[in-house]
Amino acid sequence: MEENKKIRPIRSYVLRQGRLTKHQAEAISLYGNDLIIPSSNDLINWDRLFSSKEKRSILEIGFGMGDTTAEIAKRFPQNNYIGIEVHSPGVGNLINKIKAYNLNNLRIIQHDAVEVVENMFADESLDAVHIFFPDPWHKKRHNKRRLIRAEFLRKVATKLKKNAYLHIATDWEDYALWIIEEFKVCKEYVLKTNEFQIKPDHRPYTKYEKRGLNLGHNVWDIVFMRI
Ligand SMILES: C[S@@+](CC[C@H](N)C(=O)[O-])C[C@H]1O[C@@H](n2cnc3c(N)ncnc32)[C@H](O)[C@@H]1O
Repeated sequence: MEENKKIRPIRSYVLRQGRLTKHQAEAISLYGNDLIIPSSNDLINWDRLFSSKEKRSILEIGFGMGDTTAEIAKRFPQNNYIGIEVHSPGVGNLINKIKAYNLNNLRIIQHDAVEVVENMFADESLDAVHIFFPDPWHKKRHNKRRLIRAEFLRKVATKLKKNAYLHIATDWEDYALWIIEEFKVCKEYVLKTNEFQIKPDHRPYTKYEKRGLNLGHNVWDIVFMRI
């Protein structure tokens, strides 16, 4: 009996039954087939997916409600974006934004990013990865759920092109310091500038960040470059 017990992986998220608004549900049922890429073990061909050539391929992990994701895709039509998120309200909201802004350079994957990164992106295929405000899991006993760990940083590194960047932002000092410690054992990266940067203009404020700022939190932007 004991032997048959499935070992559940430790995930960096908890799936709550968040309420989907009617507008979000409609967005998913009307446009989900076109805009959501089903998770699979097939590698993504960016040129084919976006019917475009020589655009930069940028992945965002954990886009939340997706407002910032859509804003970035709108500001930079010269890039293609894929956003990963597990929560349906965020997926529905982002689809509505894609439609409102008439974006053709952004798609969504609704699945655990740890598996998606491993299975769906070819080695050295990404120009950048954005991870804005990953869940801090600030209680000691929950630290093990943190997405940013050396093993994951290493996996992401294999998918980045040379000189491509990984941009992480957090509003938890303890997590910021943790990220730097995890990075120190990854020989695949160097810090782009200082350990912590001032928020770059190309990163709009995110929903989660605004909440943190209202609570008086600071923000740490960390940018690694793949070497
Ligand atoms: C704290 S929120 C930040 C959301 C957004 N980036 C922002 O700044 O407003 C972190 C998000 O990451 C998502 N997330 C956490 N782990 C994930 C994983 N392994 N795969 C996909 N999404 C994940 C959560 O569902 C959540 O929406």
